[in-house]
Amino acid sequence: MERLQNKVAMITGAASGMGLAAAKLFAREGAKVAATDIAVTQLIEETRNFKGDILALELDVTSEEQWRIARERVIKEFGKIDILINNAGVSVHKSLLEEDLEGWNKAISINLTSVWLGMKTVIPYMQQNGKGSVVNCVSLAALVGGADSGAAAYSAAKGGVRSLTKHAAINFAKDKIRVNSVFPGAILTGAVRKHGVTSQEQLGKAFQNIIPLPPHAGEESDIANAYLFLASDESKFITGEELVVDGGWSSN
Ligand SMILES: NC(=O)c1ccc[n+]([C@@H]2O[C@H](COP(=O)([O-])OP(=O)(O)OC[C@H]3O[C@@H](n4cnc5c(N)ncnc54)[C@H](O)[C@@H]3O)[C@@H](O)[C@H]2O)c1
Repeated sequence: MERLQNKVAMITGAASGMGLAAAKLFAREGAKVAATDIAVTQLIEETRNFKGDILALELDVTSEEQWRIARERVIKEFGKIDILINNAGVSVHKSLLEEDLEGWNKAISINLTSVWLGMKTVIPYMQQNGKGSVVNCVSLAALVGGADSGAAAYSAAKGGVRSLTKHAAINFAKDKIRVNSVFPGAILTGAVRKHGVTSQEQLGKAFQNIIPLPPHAGEESDIANAYLFLASDESKFITGEELVVDGGWSSN
């Protein structure tokens, strides 16, 4: 299938987890993919033997300058940007009372300011192109207070991404630029593996009383497929929407 034929996609946080899964899926669906990450060595390693159109680029999403440089490189290589996936993010497990100002500002910068910078940098090019699709990664932590109860700044940042997505959807609809969001629940990715979790079943065990749908935890492709639908023209009349991928967690 070629659901993204003739499309150029830029994806952040693509060295690991959902971002890496999305980069490979999008390329398999016919897109030219600019896969970006702050961990560029890991990104190059992960995409080296992949048989598809993936350009690996360094991009720290908190840097306006790096956003500008990466955008110019994508335009030079591929001529346009149709799709922007603001996927990069870092969960910081500090409660409201434990957090300090430096940690707060860092979490807001990586998880929220980054999304604003990405849209500010890329949307003008989509306007010139006459259309575009932006997908922002939020989290269940923005929907329910207990989802990531130790992570005050992270929850606040993701709540900001939720609002910013709606704001952008309304403001750029006239330019045929759609802006939607995906809300992952508990998903086995690099971020989760860092905490010693090695399988979906192991992660699911911790959530079996909370997430109704077996195996009680998701995998990277569950989110990559949600990104794909919102990025593609299959969702061409959808904007400002919130696609929750949580195995029923938030319906509990
Ligand atoms: N895994 C989950 O259960 C879960 C749940 C809800 C939301 N999310 C969100 O999903 C998104 C992807 O996370 P993941 O779980 O795949 O994690 P991951 O750690 O596997 O991947 C995240 C990637 O982001 C990159 N990154 C970190 N800081 C960056 C920066 N400043 N600039 C550019 N890249 C940077 C990392 O190098 C890494 O490659 C994040 O926005 C995260 O908040 C994850």
